[in-house]
Amino acid sequence: MAGREHDPVGDGHEILHNEDFEAAYRAKIIGQDTWLFTGGRNASSLDGKWSFVHDLHFNGLRSRWFEMEPIAPEDRVFPYDWDPFNSDTVQVPSNWQLQDPHLYLFEGAAWYVRSFNRSDLPVGERHLLRIGAAAYECKVFLNGTYLGRHQGASTPFFVDLTETLREGENHLFLCVDNLRTLDRVPMRHTDWFNYGGVYREVEVFTVPSEAVRDMFVSLVPDGTFSKIRVEIECDGQGSEAEFHIPELGVSASIQLQEGRGEIEIEARPELWSPETPKLYDVSLAYGIDRVTDRVGFREIRREGTELLLNGKPLFLRGVAVHEDDETLGKVSSKADLERRFNHARELGCNFVRLAHYPHHEDAAILADELGILLWEELPVYWAIDFLNPDTFVDAENQLCELVRRDRNRASVIIWSVGNENPDSDPRFDFMSKLANKARALDPTRLISAACLVDLEKLQIADRLASVIDVIGINEYFGWYFPNYEELIAIGSNSSPDRPVVITETGADAVTPAMGGPERGRFSEDYMADVYRNQVAILRKLDYVKGISPWVLYDFRAERRQNAWQKGWNRKGLIAQDKTTKKAAFGIMQDFYREIAAKSDG
Ligand code: GCU
Repeated sequence: MAGREHDPVGDGHEILHNEDFEAAYRAKIIGQDTWLFTGGRNASSLDGKWSFVHDLHFNGLRSRWFEMEPIAPEDRVFPYDWDPFNSDTVQVPSNWQLQDPHLYLFEGAAWYVRSFNRSDLPVGERHLLRIGAAAYECKVFLNGTYLGRHQGASTPFFVDLTETLREGENHLFLCVDNLRTLDRVPMRHTDWFNYGGVYREVEVFTVPSEAVRDMFVSLVPDGTFSKIRVEIECDGQGSEAEFHIPELGVSASIQLQEGRGEIEIEARPELWSPETPKLYDVSLAYGIDRVTDRVGFREIRREGTELLLNGKPLFLRGVAVHEDDETLGKVSSKADLERRFNHARELGCNFVRLAHYPHHEDAAILADELGILLWEELPVYWAIDFLNPDTFVDAENQLCELVRRDRNRASVIIWSVGNENPDSDPRFDFMSKLANKARALDPTRLISAACLVDLEKLQIADRLASVIDVIGINEYFGWYFPNYEELIAIGSNSSPDRPVVITETGADAVTPAMGGPERGRFSEDYMADVYRNQVAILRKLDYVKGISPWVLYDFRAERRQNAWQKGWNRKGLIAQDKTTKKAAFGIMQDFYREIAAKSDG
């Protein structure tokens, strides 16, 4: 089909000499105004084979590849450097690093293109594209029109296609880049692999003009376990919506003012907990729109240094985990998630820290079913440009997307606004605002961050603790800090007024069978000794209400390149094969068995 031809040569000066070419795409940051509640909705999947090319020089933006139409190669009149309609393809979702070994350390832009016919979509008034995650920035074009750009490598976003869709074939172009820059969240220095690409599902939701944008269902955390709160946002002029929980005999009409409504309903649901992960089917009808969810009702609070789940003291027997796999990269599969939680339960965990960024939404959905408590986290990691207002907008938007995506998940008990950030006034202000925003979006959960220890005074000392509920502490005595006496001193010198969770501790090791040393650092025995010493000290700290050793599995990290690391962080209790357990696994397992017995006793 002859389509519109774009003459790149005609724009020669523009293509070759305009280094401000990105100015045309700085606007239209994709944020919350296109958010859509998707529970219970049917979607048109766009997963599968997409045309793909890497584009180190942003040639595609300079030459406006997104204006190209499918024309038989022999009929093309003008020169071109890539033809999306006559190209190699990749599977979406995927990370390009694992689709092509030449792209293992590629850091730059890449293009994903696929066509779909308008008739492939259901009849409806609005069509919203949802991209589950694209690392790091994703510019969206449909039929040659720029629709906007999303920042953030780990949260879903929506783009309204309605006005740009046409009858017949539509061509969707995504320009995704994984550049590490000074103003991004995280910045350019992390201890995890810089995966790139569209690595979670791509779907189109077709909805009426009057549709449910959001629904938040929770147990009112007032210690009575007797009130359910429902907050909704709806597009359009409807004045009410009908909420139901059939198993509880709940049916309630929610009145709307300017599209928003909330209600508190007397009810005594069976409470969700790790022991009894009870979930209820809920539904909301608004005009012809209808959404559903499966929600657990539980209360998480703190009193002094105690954590209380449904009013009972809680100790978080945890482990930290990255979203990383030897073959899948950052793509999540149901099997990989099930293996992750099965290993955590085998370790004796009731808690998993999903570090250091939002994991796939299926992780929390599965944790709801299994009864595993979760810490979810924003990638406000190490140094961040805390003085940059655009960086705050990016961080806050990622926070909104995480909280709105997962706040109906009972398993999520903690929102973390960061990890190991160097203290400064701008850092304190930036993270305090994030903590307050998280509470405003969701007053039913605890807020935390991995905080700082004063290694001079040897005590927990981070002013950020005053604006969060749970103090996370990453401490590596036995690995980065050789003197365990200092950990003991920190323990006795600190008197926090709120719960402390040891959010990281551990050591690297490669088992001898996998080529690791027989003794010394990076040996399995050295790692086991670190864990024995840590357990012996931490068990005496009564304000420590949780531990999540770093980390369940070895994970990719470019900065780790010694003879045993070879591009992997080796602190996993289980090796990169997600099969080989190290001796430290058994040490933690014994410790958690002992703790569980005490709390059951
Ligand atoms: C830090 C950091 C982790 C990192 C770990 C390590 O505490 O939070 O992201 O991987 O230490 O050094 O292995």
